Amino acid sequence: MANDIKYDTFIQEVTHQLGHGGLFLNTKAGDTINTMVIGWGGITIFWGKPIFIAPVRQSRYTHELLEKSSEFSVSVPLKPDENMKKTLAFCGSKSGRDMDKFRKCNITPVGGRSIDVPIIGECPLHYECKIIYKTDIVPNTLDKTIDDKWYPDYHTLYFGEILNCYTI
Ligand SMILES: Cc1cc2nc3c(=O)[nH]c(=O)nc-3n(C[C@H](O)[C@H](O)[C@H](O)COP(=O)(O)O)c2cc1C
Repeated sequence: MANDIKYDTFIQEVTHQLGHGGLFLNTKAGDTINTMVIGWGGITIFWGKPIFIAPVRQSRYTHELLEKSSEFSVSVPLKPDENMKKTLAFCGSKSGRDMDKFRKCNITPVGGRSIDVPIIGECPLHYECKIIYKTDIVPNTLDKTIDDKWYPDYHTLYFGEILNCYTI
């Protein structure tokens, strides 16, 4: 059974996991579902709303799906075991263009509660988000050392209003 929690209850754990293996960013467009790993972004407040910022490079299959959708979910493995660490590494390096990562990793897409995008049943913590803004990184407004270090293949930042947050 799901337990509703406040958006910021696990903010420290989420921030920690971003830097230690990442989180699952789940998408759906039409009948196609996919998941990839993010290590940047996170939970913040904007326009008086709780927001999950998901930074997705334009080369990702996830980017293609998000451009056809207005929703995403984030599933967080808290204290991942070895098997979950392997799943993160796999989903963070293989593309959904080439395979069904849910099937390949034996992870379970569970229907979202308030959006049409699934969450990952093997994770304990979930955020369901509606995209209310997106913006591409603008190269000539970015610090040059960062530009040189991290790009080309710029991110789009997707601002997802957190509609609900729960543990299972
Ligand atoms: C720890 C980790 C963090 C990552 N963070 C991001 C990220 O923040 N943004 C991004 O676009 N890709 C990130 N990636 C890479 C994507 O998860 C990876 O390219 C994935 O295979 C894309 O899948 P897709 O083509 O199915 O969308 C990360 C990968 C790992 C392992």
